Parts: sequence; C-alpha cells; structure tokens
Amino acid sequence: MSGRIPREFIDDLLVRVDIVDLIDSHVPLKKTGNNFVARCPFHAEKTPSFSVNRKKQFFHCFGCGASGNAISFLMDFSHLDFVEAVEDLAGFVGIDVPRESIEYQAAGSKKEDLNSLYRLMEQVAAFYVEQLRTSDEGKIAVEYLKNRGVSGDCAGDFMLGYAPDEWKALASRFNPKLLLEAGLLVEKEGGQPYDRFRGRLMFPIRDKRARIIGFGGRVLDDSLPKYLNSPETPLFHKGKEVYGLYELLEKNSKPQRILIVEGYMDVIALAQFGIHYAVAALGTAASQAHLDLLFRFSSELVFCFDGDKAGREAAWRAMEAAFSSLKDGRQIRIMLLPQHHDPDSLVREEGVDGFIGRVQAAETLSEYFFGHISSELSLSEMEGRAQLVNKAKPYLEKLPDSVFKEMMYARLKELSGWGGLDVLENATTLDSRQAYRHNPRQDSKIGRKQFQGNKSARTAIALLIQNPRLAELVEQRDIDWSGLEFPGVDLLKNILQMIADKNPANQAVLLECYRDASDEKTIKALALWDLLIPDDGVDAEFCGALDTLLTQARNTIWERLLDKSKIKELDAQEKELFRKMQAAK
Ligand code: UTP
Ligand code: MN
Repeated sequence: MSGRIPREFIDDLLVRVDIVDLIDSHVPLKKTGNNFVARCPFHAEKTPSFSVNRKKQFFHCFGCGASGNAISFLMDFSHLDFVEAVEDLAGFVGIDVPRESIEYQAAGSKKEDLNSLYRLMEQVAAFYVEQLRTSDEGKIAVEYLKNRGVSGDCAGDFMLGYAPDEWKALASRFNPKLLLEAGLLVEKEGGQPYDRFRGRLMFPIRDKRARIIGFGGRVLDDSLPKYLNSPETPLFHKGKEVYGLYELLEKNSKPQRILIVEGYMDVIALAQFGIHYAVAALGTAASQAHLDLLFRFSSELVFCFDGDKAGREAAWRAMEAAFSSLKDGRQIRIMLLPQHHDPDSLVREEGVDGFIGRVQAAETLSEYFFGHISSELSLSEMEGRAQLVNKAKPYLEKLPDSVFKEMMYARLKELSGWGGLDVLENATTLDSRQAYRHNPRQDSKIGRKQFQGNKSARTAIALLIQNPRLAELVEQRDIDWSGLEFPGVDLLKNILQMIADKNPANQAVLLECYRDASDEKTIKALALWDLLIPDDGVDAEFCGALDTLLTQARNTIWERLLDKSKIKELDAQEKELFRKMQAAK
C-alpha cells in the first residue's frame, strides 16, 4: 500500500460521495430545511446542533465546533488518519484507491515493498516467541519474566519473545536484504551483517492495525545498553508511534483515559495488574504527533513521570509539546511519581487501587502549568506578577483557540491582576468554535481582526469559499490586481488561483486543498460563516462586495498618488497607473 494517493483522486472522491449519505450511515440524520441534523457524535448533547449541508458537502456542529468534509468526518468519527479515511471513503462508494508509482524512491536500489517487510516482521516476531517458549536460553528469559511478575498470558498478549545470543540467528533464516531494510541486521563496513538483537527479551512494537513495525529488546542482566530499539526504517518512525497502543485498543477501543509512561516494562506491568490503558513513548519525549495520535482514541491523557528533577523537567518539556494539541474537550493531566519509582515498581508496591487513586488525583495541566511557572516567583510583588505574565504568555499563545484558552488567560489575569492590553483579546481570533458558540447566527467575529473590520473583504472571500463557482464572475471582469491593496487581498488571490488550478466542485473539495495549509483555519472559519443569503441572492451579494472592495482599493491608490504628486514627481510606473485610473474614472 505504498505510494501517494493522487490528488485528483481525492478531489473526485469528494465529488462522488454525498456527505449526507455517508454521515447518515453512521449517525442517522433528520432533514430540516436545507440541512440535515442530528445529535452531535463528537460531544454529548440533548438537542441536535450537528448539521450537514448537502450543497456545501460539509458538516458543522454549532455546539462543539467540529466541522469538515467527508474525509474529516471519517478521521474524527472512526479515529482514522488521513490515508485511512480516504481508503474508507473509497470503500464506501465502492472504488479502489490508486497509488502513484514509487519509482522516485528507486535511485539505484529499489526499496523492498512494505508488504514484504511487514510479513518479515511477523515471521521474525513468531521466531522470537518460539525461542522464548522452546529454547534452553529462552527458559532463562521466561524465568526473568516470572521474577518480574509477568504471567504467561500477559507475555502472550504482548507477544514477548527472545532473541538468541547468536550473530546469525535471523541472518541464517530470513532474507538478508529484507532484514537489513527492516533494521534487524547491523552492517559494519567490510564485515558481514549480523543480528542486531542478541540475547535479549524482545518486545514487538505494533501499530494500531496490528502490524509489527519495530522491536525493543532488553538484556536479562545488568549489561549495557539495557534496551536496544529498532532504528528508523520504512516501517518504524519513533516520533510517531507509541508502545502498547494496539494492545490497549484490543482491550478497549474507547478508553476513558490513556496513561503515557516511560518504559516497555511499565506498560506491561500495568497491564498485568489490569490497567490496560497505558502506552510508552519509545524512549523519546512524547511528541505532538504522539499526542495527536492518542487523542484520537481518548480525550484525556495522563503523563506519568518520575518525581525526581529529571522527571519534572521531562514533564515540563512534554507540556510544551502538549500545548498546541489542546483543543476543547481534550484534557491532559500530569502525574508525578514518588522518587525512585516507576509505574512498574509503584503498582507492585501500592497495588491497583493505590495506583488508580494516584491517576485520578493527577494534577490538571492548568494547575501544573501555573504551579510550575509561578513556583520561583513572588506573586505578592508586582515584579513577580509581571514575570508571571511574561513567562506564561508564550505558552498560552500556542493553545488553539478554545474556551480552554480563554480560561487559561482568565486564570493568568486572576493570578497577575493584569488586564492590560486586553488579555482576552489574545484569546479571540478566527476560530469558528467560539464564533458560533457565542453567537451562532449573527455576523460573527470571524476574521474581524484579519480583515481589519473590512466587511466587504470578509463577505467576498467567505462567499467565494462557499461557492467556488463565483470565481467565474471574477474572471469575467478581467480585473487588474496590480497595486490593489485591501485586507485579505493575498488570501483572495490565493483562493482564486486555487480555484483556477483545481476547479473544485464545491466548498468541501476546495477546503480539502487547504488541509494542513497555513490558511486552513481562516478559510474554514469563513466557510462556516452563515451569511443568511438566499441561494438566488448569492451572486448579487458577491458582486456587490467585490465592487465595493475594488472601488475602495482603487480610491486608496488614487489618493495616495494624488497626495504624492503634490509633494514630488511620480515615477514612470506611477504615472502610468495614474493615467489609467484617470481614464477609468
Ligand atoms: P527505563 O530504564 O526507565 O526502563 O527506561 P524501564 O522500563 O523501567 O526498565 P526496566 O526493565 O524496568 O529496568 C525507560 C525507557 O527508555 C528507553 C526504553 O524505551 C525504556 O523502556 N531506554 C532505556 C532505551 O531505549 N535504552 C536504554 O538503554 C534505556
Ligand atoms: Mn522499570
């Protein structure tokens, strides 16, 4: 399944599918007026505020702000990543997903295809399991596991194995080229490649679709390094995967919370005690990609760290990554363990109830954040409170716009007594969630800042996004954009160009072109702005807004040129422009 999915295929798919049918098959919809509504699948509510618009091929919840096209719906509803959602959607309309060839990877030696690598990993894991169960050496590993309190069942759940203490246990059994590609052999210059993992207890790392993508291996004594991990390979990307997610989802696909611990053995020990909702970031700090992955399965993440200095520093670093992931409805808590304990040792010492008690008592991110950040400041003095504001602001700015963000600013204001520069102003930007939460129907705050209050700019761009066909009306006018300036002009030109290039059939397809782009948020907010214009009035409204905009912009230039010409002579270009404008008047 390697190779990129062609862009055109995705655009076609969004045209072929009807979002109303798609969503209706997951969440039964009721028709009201132009929209279809239901109780929102993304937050708990009694009255329906989730609505699906057939013309725009878009869904939007006025309650929680969730919104998007058919792909976004599947990503959110079924916890899929982008590619999986496209595959699912193609399945829904009954077509196959084509892949662009991956020749560009070739560059001399053709990469092995991913499927053979997955197959190899599966076979190697089975080999390690067999070694654990049957070989003499394996018995020592089983003994080791027993000593650490890991049962046979638990070892089975995690598919634990043993890598024999030999240089060529794998190399003599499997295809060496594939082994190398999978990171299972080490190649030293001039020498023969040899097995990377030797004499170690083996932990297969599975992705959420049960495929083995890497291994961790622990020595059975005090030798070093204690753990070895697979290197980065075409299958394994440390920064994106966590250990234990597959095993967790097997037990519960929608856990109330997920614990993020440090070690392989922590995950396993907790599972042994019936706490099946822990994962480990693979020997690295939890990255934003990790958090985004985990938030797809649970809205609450609890970080576990050692209570020592290193642990507290790690907790702080993890929080920094966490800030940008914190949308509304997502929660992070921080659990600092007593000194010299990890979850493995702690659950054994305090038992399940004690451990769960600690999880439940873990500090919320806001408590932890303000506690940590003000720990060395004296808030009874003005200087201390000023420092607090300066230290806190860069973090709070990273939070996505949300009620949570507003509350964090409110807390900062409370702690510092600082209301200058309108603290809350910083928390209100283009985000559609707030705009609608506060005022679902009226002309909202959307883009007010960005468009500097220029309503025509905002209206024209919003209508264009919602009705990409309007670009034709712009084209017919053959507008000379040179020198024209108004708030949002670059965005408008960018969208017109995108429509010219991609010819999107509707808003959903246009927005797909902006997925993950820097303008995505603004465009999405404008897409959701309900201007309350009847269908047959859209063209006139758009043309009106565009005309106002162009007139304003031309007047600005005209006045600027006029002012300048009074002081000094215009250059050739300016003169030309002046002449043109005079003629047009
Ligand atoms: P720890 O040393 O805390 O691991 O390292 P642990 O799970 O508690 O180990 P034991 O088995 O109980 O003694 C935490 C994590 O850091 C990574 C591993 O992912 C480990 O689980 N690590 C640690 C390495 O990658 N290499 C090492 O040499 C040590
Ligand atoms: Mn440990």
